[in-house]
Amino acid sequence: MINTNSAKLREEARKYAPGGVHSATRNVEPFHVFTRGEGAYIYDADGNKFIDYQAAFGPYILGHNFPYVNNKVIEALSRTDMYGVGTTDLEIEAARKITVHVPSAEQVLFANSGSEATFHAIRLARGITGRQKLIKFQGCYHGWHDYVARNMLSSWDKIGKRDPGSAGMLEEAIDNTLVCTYNDLDDVERTFNENKGQISCIIIEPIPHNIGIIMPQPGFLEGLRELCDANGALLIFDEVITGFRHSIGGYQKVAGVTPDLTTMGKAMANGFPIAAVAGKKEYMQRFNTQPGGDVWFAGTYNGHAVGTAACIATIETMENEPVHEHIFRLGDRMRSEIRGILDRLGITAYVAGFGSTWTTYFMDFEPKNYTDLQHNDAEFYVTYRKKLIEKGIYKMPMNLKRNHLSYSHTDKEVDITLEAIETVLKEMTGK
Ligand SMILES: Cc1ncc(COP(=O)(O)O)c(C=O)c1O
Repeated sequence: MINTNSAKLREEARKYAPGGVHSATRNVEPFHVFTRGEGAYIYDADGNKFIDYQAAFGPYILGHNFPYVNNKVIEALSRTDMYGVGTTDLEIEAARKITVHVPSAEQVLFANSGSEATFHAIRLARGITGRQKLIKFQGCYHGWHDYVARNMLSSWDKIGKRDPGSAGMLEEAIDNTLVCTYNDLDDVERTFNENKGQISCIIIEPIPHNIGIIMPQPGFLEGLRELCDANGALLIFDEVITGFRHSIGGYQKVAGVTPDLTTMGKAMANGFPIAAVAGKKEYMQRFNTQPGGDVWFAGTYNGHAVGTAACIATIETMENEPVHEHIFRLGDRMRSEIRGILDRLGITAYVAGFGSTWTTYFMDFEPKNYTDLQHNDAEFYVTYRKKLIEKGIYKMPMNLKRNHLSYSHTDKEVDITLEAIETVLKEMTGK
């Protein structure tokens, strides 16, 4: 695959930005400078075309540059932008739509990124309970801020131990974030008992997508709801990935478990920058956007027309078209046909997934938590992905990353992908 232009531009990029990229985990090999995205496809500076499953880590539920959403954004920008005072018609409609669809969302506030949303949700939980500590789960990711940036993709020897994700973090913040094992209710109960009256909230990705796709075992999310209620703590579902992707009402609608607070981002606006924190009205009214509220909430760009128009248009598309039916069908097909290929070739692997997401762990059982993922053959996993990229199938070339289908993917792209998968697996195993 020719990458002369990408290589040249990468040198240029490195002059102006550390590493030449603008977010962690983008500096991967093979390195591409991307110049165009359309529907299910992305293109690099050398004209290479890829079927995209990276989906920018998840936002592209409808596909790149989806015309209906883009046109609604352009239409909005031809008359409005932002004012920093009062509200806008777009903010009202976008918030209304979220309250209609997401079970826990009685009220909504907009921010610009998932990290801001999780920061605000946690601070609100601390404000409401007057408690400092929180529980997160090993392997889950909730953004870059000090409250949550520990025990994410920990090295195996750091599992469950003190593992700050960054230099410069506030020691107190690290130590007030307790880490439990996903799918282990006993561990959560023990942690509540050992920290009686001190835990403000649990924050959880209902499906921990930052380590692929690990499904909540029956009763796990319900058990967290009960433990939070029994201990006077708030339950926060971080639906930044699952929200709108797995159902218009988020994974909470699928699971039938309603959290106190929900954070959303990514698929809520098909890639335009907007995020939200939502929840019970009695809690949301503690934010100081409400007169008398005592939990600070602010942001110059909150509710900008770009994000709110995109959010309305994305939700409208989901309301009016069979978006979830389509992506779930393609996801089922992808998973079952990959299983067929693996069986035919006699390769031991576990194909995980839900709805539009999937990944193939090269291990011989279903992982239930981050610890189990040590059994995944990371070298094989990444090499497999790199070989697929050479064949025009873009999956993030990094261990444990998941793949995403969009409404713009069709059976044609699935056919091409399955053929490439079979070829690559044959090449790699000599079968
Ligand atoms: C579950 C989850 N929460 C929060 C975030 C942070 O969102 P953002 O990158 O928009 O700040 C992410 C980002 O990947 C995420 O996956």
